[in-house]
Amino acid sequence: MSARPGTPSVERLFTGIGQLVTPSGPGAKRGAQQSDLQVLHDAALGVEGGRVAWLGPAAEWRGQADDEVDLGGRAVVPGLVDPHTHLVWGGDRYRDLDERLAGVPYERILARGGGIRATVRATNASDQAQLVHAALTRLDDLVASGATTVEVKSGYGASVQGELALLDAIKGVQASAAVTVVPTLLIHLPDPDERAAHLQAVRERLIPEAAARGLTKRLDVFVERSAFSLEEAEELLRTGRAHGLQLTLHADQFHALGGVDLALRMGARSVDHLEASGVEQVAALADGDTVATLLPGVSLELDLPGAPGRALVDAGVPVAVASDLNPGSSPLFATSLALALSLRVNRLRPAEALVAGTVNAAAALGLDDVGWLGVGARADLLVLPERDWRSLVHGLGGPGPFEVYAAGRRVDRGGRVAEAPA
Ligand code: NIG
Ligand code: FE
Repeated sequence: MSARPGTPSVERLFTGIGQLVTPSGPGAKRGAQQSDLQVLHDAALGVEGGRVAWLGPAAEWRGQADDEVDLGGRAVVPGLVDPHTHLVWGGDRYRDLDERLAGVPYERILARGGGIRATVRATNASDQAQLVHAALTRLDDLVASGATTVEVKSGYGASVQGELALLDAIKGVQASAAVTVVPTLLIHLPDPDERAAHLQAVRERLIPEAAARGLTKRLDVFVERSAFSLEEAEELLRTGRAHGLQLTLHADQFHALGGVDLALRMGARSVDHLEASGVEQVAALADGDTVATLLPGVSLELDLPGAPGRALVDAGVPVAVASDLNPGSSPLFATSLALALSLRVNRLRPAEALVAGTVNAAAALGLDDVGWLGVGARADLLVLPERDWRSLVHGLGGPGPFEVYAAGRRVDRGGRVAEAPA
């Protein structure tokens, strides 16, 4: 189709956008900017090549579109970014659940060989196709709740071969998903019998091979009494950095051991959990650029204090929120519900939560083309059932998005693009 000179030609034009609400552009937002949202009334949005090619008041549109979708006055926000999930696992944790409900702490279950270690055994006993299929089903749930970018960690493979197999499974998920999947190598727990040998194998074989094969661009390490010490974590992170990987940490879940300072010192993109963080950690983060990622599902599931979201935002720390979907500490299958919980558990305000679940989450993943809507961004967007966008972060378990679009195409359950690309 040829356009008149000076008028854009797009493959799809969304019209009837009652209210489009978005962070202003890429990059982590902090302090007052964490609640700064641009609102455009009666807007139109043009898509070309899966990206936003035009955005403005509908009355100003002068171009031509191959296809027009009228949203009937509904609200539109960017697709959510879920920056921390453990989507690929085998087995279940119902035995742990019974024990925890009977009063046995999560850390004691782990020390006895249950918890994460039980999931490692079950995952390693599962076949690859089964793992990929189960992960895609879980991804559907996150997408139905509004996620169009999902980080997925390995971490239940434990050995070099086990973790490489999980990264391969994540690649399988990525290949079949209609949304963006960001793989991360997670070094979750040390081998209790061969700690030094395991660490050496991770440094000398796992990290180099995962990076060389392009299976991940990111490395995560769990710093905790039951997992890696600060010194061990630093060695692993240094190795990751030497292989060009972006860094992130699980830190301060049960004990503030110095993982926050380590994340800052190593230039980590994000430091996640922070349930045990206090004023010192908040002040340290305020002086750095590392995103603080809150996981309110963990506080709820394990009855831990909420990470200090309010204090972090007030101190000017860029804050993100994630589901941390996993079978043990956070069986939370909805990214928008994680945002809704952050209002209650971490005391974020609705606008802060939306920024936390979009552009700040994207910054935590090193992505600058998702989490906001404007020319050049991926056309990942949510059409909401109500005219007011706050329904997305207020409701507990609903109302979910009316429709989810990834790269301008509608995604239905089944994780597949419901419409053929133009
Ligand atoms: O983010 N803290 C460690 N890792 C996961 C827990 C995974 C699990 O319980 O299986 C987390 O909470
Ligand atoms: Fe986690």
